[in-house]
Amino acid sequence: MKITSIKGFADIFPGEVESWQLVEAKARQVFHAYNFAEIRIPILEKTELFSRSIGETSDIVEKEMYTFEDRDSRAGETVESTKLTLRPEGTAGVVRAYVEAEMYKVEPVRKLYYMGPMFRRERPQKGRMRQFHQIGAEALGRGDPFVDAEILLLLHDFFSAVGLTEPSLQINSLGCSECRPQYRQKLLAFLQHHEQSLCGNCQRRIDRNPLRALDCKEAGCIETTKDAPSIVDSLCAQCREHFATVQRLLSATEVRFALNPRMVRGLDYYCRTTFEWTTGLLGSQSAVAAGGRYDALVEQLGGPAIPGVGFAMGVERLTMLLRLQESAAANGPSLFIVWLGDKARDWAFPAMHRLRRAGVSVEMEGEARSMKSQMRRADKLKAVSVLIVGENELTQGTAALRDMASKQQRGVNLKNIEAELVVRKAN
Ligand code: HAM
Repeated sequence: MKITSIKGFADIFPGEVESWQLVEAKARQVFHAYNFAEIRIPILEKTELFSRSIGETSDIVEKEMYTFEDRDSRAGETVESTKLTLRPEGTAGVVRAYVEAEMYKVEPVRKLYYMGPMFRRERPQKGRMRQFHQIGAEALGRGDPFVDAEILLLLHDFFSAVGLTEPSLQINSLGCSECRPQYRQKLLAFLQHHEQSLCGNCQRRIDRNPLRALDCKEAGCIETTKDAPSIVDSLCAQCREHFATVQRLLSATEVRFALNPRMVRGLDYYCRTTFEWTTGLLGSQSAVAAGGRYDALVEQLGGPAIPGVGFAMGVERLTMLLRLQESAAANGPSLFIVWLGDKARDWAFPAMHRLRRAGVSVEMEGEARSMKSQMRRADKLKAVSVLIVGENELTQGTAALRDMASKQQRGVNLKNIEAELVVRKAN
């Protein structure tokens, strides 16, 4: 019998590997320009490292880690048993190495980068793997807002070096040990008041980690927390000043950003500046890179009080975006919608708009034409695929999507056209 690979674990074959090499080479160039040095850390660490840093109530530690008991035995008798975990991210390991090697004694300011596989037992889908790869960087020893801005500029430069249309940047401040506890109390009181409208998960961790409710993707929680107190209104004077400087520095550059006070991130070590770069092209797994400041982590892991800030980007998502972009450049629109009849046109126009907003390049005729004439137009424009919609298709809720190169057709659900096309396009 054939042995297959594990679900969520992928091979990267020649043809694909070249874009990985490009991404890695460009990242090294940019890291060099920003004076970051490479560090290579183990893939396996003691479980406690992650539970203590990422947080006991985080999704990663609660349910996504690959953990096993490692037994050292002598003559059949267990001498020692340690719980070990395949690293779900790189920050904790880098900080552990920095503290363990007492790197700060020689020079507290260290700018380190890493590349490699990470492991999370999440439900696999496009852009979400159980073994995935990150390129990440950590700037340790500096608490000033200039280094936060520098990290964001580094990412901006990296995206332009690989030729990626820049994803959108959202930033937030999570405050510090002075102001966050007060915000936490305010939010907790609000959530307790609306507890019945929260999902089970948020209800369960309301006391231990109320901030996570702001990040919950359940419709009920999104609706309920719309009027929740905002963290940016609760920042202490120092955090406010820090965040204002980050924004001022970014505003003086070409980096565009938006404030998102609901962005709390899924790892508990963050404080002050946090950020996410997202793109509409990857469906629901939209974050390409993310990170933030973690000023208490070095101390939490047994070192002195030394601040830090960093980020990690997902290499699978980056290479997927590059491939999408390449095919868009080599071809005409990704989709041409052929419509037959007024009802089909009235469906097609807003659908085209929604798809375009999600980053899919779409075209259609404005005036009524025969199917043959519309197909000729699609051909001339070098459309990658054509969606044929008439009244029957609208009634049935499905239509044929034809690949123009292979002439293969498959049915797609018209009600959920973005999910059908955006996610499959990322294939
Ligand atoms: P994170 O947001 O958990 O942050 O992950 C960073 C990036 O890794 C995500 O934006 C995404 O591109 C990629 N990624 C995460 N999970 C998966 C997955 N299952 N499949 C594919 N790609 C994935 C961290 O890991 C922090 N350590 C970042 C950081 C560094 N913060 C400070 N320093």
